[in-house]
Amino acid sequence: MSPSSADFLIRDDIIFFNHGSFGACPRPVFERYQAWQRELEGQPVEFLLRRRPALMANARAAIANYFNVPAGEIVFVANVTAGLNVALRSLRLHRGDEILTTNHEYGAVNRLLDFVSAKTGAAVRRHRVRLPYESDEAFTAAFLAEASARTKAIVISHITSSTSLIFPVELICRRAREAGILTIVDGAHAPGQLPLDLTAIGADIYSGNFHKWLCAPKGSGFLHARAEHHDWIDPLAVSHGWAAGSDFVERNDWGGTRDIAPFLTVPAAIDYQRDHQWDRVRAACHALAGAAQHELCAHYGLQPLSRDQFAQMVTVPLPACDGAAVQKQLYDEYRIEAPVGEFAGQGGIRISVQAYNTAKDLERLLAALKSIIT
Ligand SMILES: Cc1ncc(COP(=O)(O)O)c(C=O)c1O
Repeated sequence: MSPSSADFLIRDDIIFFNHGSFGACPRPVFERYQAWQRELEGQPVEFLLRRRPALMANARAAIANYFNVPAGEIVFVANVTAGLNVALRSLRLHRGDEILTTNHEYGAVNRLLDFVSAKTGAAVRRHRVRLPYESDEAFTAAFLAEASARTKAIVISHITSSTSLIFPVELICRRAREAGILTIVDGAHAPGQLPLDLTAIGADIYSGNFHKWLCAPKGSGFLHARAEHHDWIDPLAVSHGWAAGSDFVERNDWGGTRDIAPFLTVPAAIDYQRDHQWDRVRAACHALAGAAQHELCAHYGLQPLSRDQFAQMVTVPLPACDGAAVQKQLYDEYRIEAPVGEFAGQGGIRISVQAYNTAKDLERLLAALKSIIT
């Protein structure tokens, strides 16, 4: 069964091409989420004290199965920002150490890296990604050429926020492991856009969002850490689970009272995509994203950032323009939501294509852009 735009709650008067910033939740998944919230409110003590451990364990088991990792290696976090804070603020770094990353990382993650650097004295080295993206091998070789004996950790996006590029994290993690460097992957955009086998990827630590491309409710993310790292990873908030002999899940899963409905709904989001043949949805969205890149680059005579190194989200260069003004005009005059601005030093538009977007939506976006930027 194919999903339809009626399955989503996006308003009819908006053409929404910014799933990458905040994903939309399909109606049946959203209803499951609200049902969990109602159950919680019906008997909060029973729900949060007595039933929570088993409910969370069931949700975790479904997620671990989806990612092909042991359930004891996954904890729920509100979002990737929280997951990466847990990992990066737990690193025991010193002056003289380095963290290797790229110049395509997400703004909040850059701030976190600078925060960790200021606290520990470790330096952050940002590899400048060569564009257009050439090949996984060329990128990996150039990136890892900047690693040295000082490099204690690599922090890298699986899919970049700014440029929408898929980085070859499996290859990078394998080479980094051979060199004895810890890998931390920012998978904010990967679950739902890419089939994800975390064992095959082999990152030491991987944090991702369910609330973007898996279309789960806002406030659902995860942190995965291989078992050998559990001892040194501190939770963001120490709470009841912190006790002698407690494990990774117990220490991290309960940071105090909160709504756990987003976490409990994740299996419904996984089921929704499976029941709606998401491989086909992804392929159709990718084709639309590719068509957008092709048409805009041909129209403006610009080179794409890559030939095909993206999934459902593509960043397309635009001629020099006031990005904020173009974005505002797109929204005010055409009711089209899409970010326009500078992405890793290059002006462009980021087009996110999700199940609810149609070829007609894309025609409207392209026509609007062409009439705004002539
Ligand atoms: C690459 C990347 N990392 C991290 C984040 C942070 O995600 P969240 O706000 O859900 O923590 C984002 C958000 O868009 C992102 O694009």
